[in-house]
Amino acid sequence: MLDPRHPRPPPTFLSLLLLALSLVRGAPTSTTLPVRPLPGLPSNGLLSNGIHLGFLPFWSLEGPSSICSALGSCSAIWGDYWNASPSSYDFEQAGYHIDEVERVVKGDVEGVYAPAVLFSGRMGEWTDEMSQSLARTVRGINRRGVKVWLRWCFEMNGGWMSYGLQPEDYITTFRSVTNAIRAATNETYMLWSPNLWTGDVDDPVQGYVPYWPGEDFVDIIGLSFYSFGPQKSLNKPASSSLFRDSFSPFYNLFSPSSSGSSNRLKISSAYSIIISETSAPYYYRIPPSSRFYTQAGDTDLTAPYPNLTTFAPALADPPYEKSDDELFTKASWLVQMVGNDTAQRFPNFKAATWFNYLKKGNGTAEVLADFRFVGGNSSVEGWLRENLGNQTAYEEGYTGAVGRMSVKRAFGAVVVGVVLVVVLVAV
Ligand SMILES: *[C@@H]1O[C@H](CO)[C@@H](O)[C@H](O)[C@H]1NC(C)=O
Ligand SMILES: *[C@@H]1O[C@H](CO)[C@@H](O)[C@H](O)[C@H]1NC(C)=O
Ligand SMILES: *[C@@H]1O[C@H](CO)[C@@H](O)[C@H](O)[C@H]1NC(C)=O
Ligand SMILES: *[C@@H]1O[C@H](CO)[C@@H](O)[C@H](O)[C@H]1NC(C)=O
Ligand SMILES: *[C@@H]1O[C@H](CO)[C@@H](O)[C@H](O)[C@H]1NC(C)=O
Ligand SMILES: *[C@@H]1O[C@H](CO)[C@@H](O)[C@H](O)[C@H]1NC(C)=O
Repeated sequence: MLDPRHPRPPPTFLSLLLLALSLVRGAPTSTTLPVRPLPGLPSNGLLSNGIHLGFLPFWSLEGPSSICSALGSCSAIWGDYWNASPSSYDFEQAGYHIDEVERVVKGDVEGVYAPAVLFSGRMGEWTDEMSQSLARTVRGINRRGVKVWLRWCFEMNGGWMSYGLQPEDYITTFRSVTNAIRAATNETYMLWSPNLWTGDVDDPVQGYVPYWPGEDFVDIIGLSFYSFGPQKSLNKPASSSLFRDSFSPFYNLFSPSSSGSSNRLKISSAYSIIISETSAPYYYRIPPSSRFYTQAGDTDLTAPYPNLTTFAPALADPPYEKSDDELFTKASWLVQMVGNDTAQRFPNFKAATWFNYLKKGNGTAEVLADFRFVGGNSSVEGWLRENLGNQTAYEEGYTGAVGRMSVKRAFGAVVVGVVLVVVLVAV
């Protein structure tokens, strides 16, 4: 809107010339875009071909330390879930895990904490007060020296979220949350993270584009992408091109190779991209006598966990190739994400976070869905340790929190302290 008190001066010859030049410069020349790095990630930890492997621990049974110990190496990304509702939004869950997160990220892999905010209201019910409460929470965490990737109201293009499928409200709310967070702290980064959609990226209901808040409001781009198998209840290893084929449209949108016509969103720099949640769950049939048989779908299991050796894998009839092999099912999917081929093809793809849960399945049959790489099948865990972790460190009792060198130094300090006391007493 023009301000009538300051009328625009009439165009001078110079300004017309500059305009003409800028039009020429704006013509479809295409240049390589600069790339936004992922904020806060170290260069060590669980990693393959420059792609980090993060974890979403099942917090009531395991935390980052137990995953570090199992693999002989820590991860650089620790996921979590925080629930909020229109009547309860103090994010008290942040307090449950922060001590352990702080201990681990101050060890030898200086990772980030990546909580996902799960809101049980409709998008229009999110208020400024909720944004302020969230901003205070993440500022408190940042002040403890822990960087946050905030995966606020993720999978917003999915009908299973109460805030889902409301693109206009989603965009305005995302922007106001970003503003509130940035006003409060500078070490929390906004992670925008839809669910995989294999149709048109512009689809008005489930596509990515209708939910895009704009690059001024988004620091990191992520995606939920699982290899679920048929009917979310039968074992079938992913086809070898599943990741590449389904990920490409998303990658090209946020990491276009140039500023030319491939830059659909006209962003000024390409994003580094992550998979925020992934797994290739292995399904086990639940015997009718089991207490899990009648449990609702898509719910967590309560301990004690069943002995899965006594459960039969859920195989199709006839079984898909290699579908009796849990390790192959999980490892072949992981390799599709962190292998050299992916690193070459998608150079700005930088991390995937593994959803390490055992759940009641959500498909058409009574199955347990074992999403875990760690803490379940020991040959699956052993493979990950050998290939991305550190077997030697594991055998030496690695915990991740403090390296051996600093333990020695601390011990030395104690010895020096004792000597000083002795000297003082002698004087
Ligand atoms: C955040 O702000 C503090 C204080 O101004 C500054 O010391 C720190 O370097 C900033 N951190 C980042 C990641 O910009
Ligand atoms: C799948 O999970 C959703 C909630 O996440 C639930 O409403 C639905 O009933 C579940 N379906 C089955 C078949 O268990
Ligand atoms: C699980 O069941 C198998 C087969 O019955 C048995 O050999 C194994 O000891 C059990 N494991 C545990 C931890 O109970
Ligand atoms: C663990 O995975 C291995 C390798 O896929 C498989 O042979 C074995 O049967 C699995 N063990 C259990 C208890 O499911
Ligand atoms: C990864 O792939 C590239 C291109 O195909 C090849 O030049 C390179 O040697 C490969 N690196 C490894 C570690 O296999
Ligand atoms: C694995 O751990 C051992 C023992 O802590 C350490 O000496 C070695 O450098 C580690 N290897 C890698 C690749 O980090």
